[in-house]
Amino acid sequence: MVTERLEEKGYTIREATQNDIAEVMHINRVCLPENYPAYFFLQLQSNYSKAFLVAEKEGKVVGYIMCRVEYGKSHFGFRIIKKGHVVSIAVLPEHRRQGIGKNLLLNAEKALKEYGAKEIILEVRVSNTPAISLYEKLGYEKVKVLKGYYSDGEDAYLMAKKLE
Ligand code: ACO
Ligand code: ZN
Repeated sequence: MVTERLEEKGYTIREATQNDIAEVMHINRVCLPENYPAYFFLQLQSNYSKAFLVAEKEGKVVGYIMCRVEYGKSHFGFRIIKKGHVVSIAVLPEHRRQGIGKNLLLNAEKALKEYGAKEIILEVRVSNTPAISLYEKLGYEKVKVLKGYYSDGEDAYLMAKKLE
């Protein structure tokens, strides 16, 4: 795992197990309005375990990223390719701005590449400045606006990044 500057602060990043799902669901509820039933988390963990990561400190999970792999048209060309899709990422409020989100994403990108992904995509609320800043910092570009994507009517940016 890439854990630039994290280990000295007591954080580690590792692949999630089914035993982490309850804590992951808790973080998801605290941090985001997009919540899912347990089977959805369990399915992503069992199908894409290398790209379902948690950050922990002193045995407590403080952040997660979960992803899947799908086929679709490239956002940077015309071919049908394998894309990594970041389904959800969140870090508990008191642990933010220390590099956890960035390192979760960098490690997930590596895993998605191992699954054969050529690009990474994700959707984010147009008002979500912290997340958009993180994605842009890591080289993601806004490729499309998805009108009324969220259940409350807010638009999403579809953001994408080509993997080297
Ligand atoms: N304002 C401006 N820039 C920010 C912010 C912010 N609040 N947060 C992160 N960034 C940018 C900065 O460039 C930052 O680097 P710096 O701290 O050196 O300036 C860089 O991103 C890396 O930040 P991290 O510390 O790695 O990010 P963090 O651990 O705080 O996690 C996250 C970011 C996951 C977006 C967190 O704010 C969060 O959990 N938010 C609520 C949940 C959420 O919105 N998730 C994303 C939804 S979209 C999706 O899941 C696909
Ligand atoms: Zn999505």
